[in-house]
Amino acid sequence: MPSLHNRRILLIDDTPSIHEDFRKILMPPVEQNPALDELESTLFGATAAPLAQPFELDSAYGGQEGLQQLCSAMQHDRPYALAFVDMRMPQGWDGAQTIEELWKVDPDLQVVVCTAYSDYSWEELLSRLKAHDRLLILKKPFDNIEVQQMANTLATKWDMARRANLKTIHLEQLVEQRNQALQLEIDERKQLQSQLIQSEKLASLGQMAAGVAHEINNPVGFVSSNLGTLDGYFKQLQRMLDAYQQAQEALPPGACIEQLNALRKDLDLDFLKEDIPILIRESKDGIARVTQIVKDLKNFSRVDNDENWQWANLQHGIDSTLNIVASELKHKADVIKHYQPLPDIECLASQINQVVMNLVINAAQAMGSERGTITLSNGVEGDQVWLEVADNGCGIAPHSLQKIFDPFFTTKPVGEGTGLGLSLSYGIVKKHHGEISVRSEVGTGTTFRVVLPIRQTAA
Ligand SMILES: Nc1ncnc2c1ncn2[C@@H]1O[C@H](COP(=O)(O)OP(=O)(O)OP(=O)(O)O)[C@@H](O)[C@H]1O
Ligand SMILES: [Mg+2]
Repeated sequence: MPSLHNRRILLIDDTPSIHEDFRKILMPPVEQNPALDELESTLFGATAAPLAQPFELDSAYGGQEGLQQLCSAMQHDRPYALAFVDMRMPQGWDGAQTIEELWKVDPDLQVVVCTAYSDYSWEELLSRLKAHDRLLILKKPFDNIEVQQMANTLATKWDMARRANLKTIHLEQLVEQRNQALQLEIDERKQLQSQLIQSEKLASLGQMAAGVAHEINNPVGFVSSNLGTLDGYFKQLQRMLDAYQQAQEALPPGACIEQLNALRKDLDLDFLKEDIPILIRESKDGIARVTQIVKDLKNFSRVDNDENWQWANLQHGIDSTLNIVASELKHKADVIKHYQPLPDIECLASQINQVVMNLVINAAQAMGSERGTITLSNGVEGDQVWLEVADNGCGIAPHSLQKIFDPFFTTKPVGEGTGLGLSLSYGIVKKHHGEISVRSEVGTGTTFRVVLPIRQTAA
């Protein structure tokens, strides 16, 4: 970075004696005076420009040569504070053209026009160069003091402009930093807002689900009980039918046996006897499934009151859950455990197990034809414990990622997934004042992370 004190001057004049004169005026031999130096640093501090700092004068004897020197100075990041330019130079560019060319390279260059007489009037020159604030005029023959004063004034002006420029850059950097901080805050707020919307959405869906579950519960109850009764009745009917059949075999030939046999064939009685129990069993399975969904919905909407808060060990819960789902996992994935010692946590243990079960089953279901790996890790962080269930399954597409906690969102075939597992889990974790989050990449795998407080303060 160039210094804040610039005393570099470019003199462009085709008369060699002018260069001699300028050198004498602007670069007089400096006499060392330590007392003066001390006074300067007391007055202006270490960074201030010393009062008698000498000028550095570069000479060019024509416009083109001057331009070359300016270009080289700019390339080396050593700009000139000002240039004295002779107006009348018969060989090559005249003063006006030289200044135009100089300003193409350094638009901020301050220029003093040196002129005895000119082909232009001052007004013409100003209007041609359109830069009143960077142009001064010095009439020949010039006065030494005037030259010194001009050089000093313009060099000081350059220094001040540079300082102002640096200040602006500093301010811009500050503004940029503030903007970044603000942007960060806005992003955080947006995220919070979307989390809020998600939990509100789930809360209202929960209420609706509670209503639906309540309404469905009664009919499901009597259908289920009627199916049980029907099953019993049919078994009795079947016994009766068998008895009739035996009685029929004992009848003398001719006595309506033909008729009975024809009817039996017509009604396909043998098939009915086989098929009715199957239909009843399937209906019972179906109704059991509906009962389970209603139960899940109630859980999700937290209408169940049998809440038993207790201090339980998360790892024991995970292990017993793994035992329950072992048969589901057996053919799909290996389970790796990265456990750390955990303190007991205050929780609804059976519901936490439910969460673990949903996550592990989802992980197993995400595996393709190849056997995969499910990694269970946990640990403690401050007054919270965390659990991660990671799989190397199919992953979740970005557009699904926002919906996986919504009730009934499933990508599984009809009959295989109700889409309630994660929304239930979300509700349970929230009830524990915890967080559930997910990271996933299609083709690589998915990691669910559950964070739970060790102690339920408000519970
Ligand atoms: N580990 C995972 N890998 C890939 N996709 C997953 C994973 N976990 C959840 N998903 C996606 O999220 C959807 C919702 O999961 P959720 O557990 O809520 O319902 P489900 O598994 O489809 O049905 P249910 O759990 O009710 O039987 C799934 O259908 C699946 O698309
Ligand atoms: Mg599931």
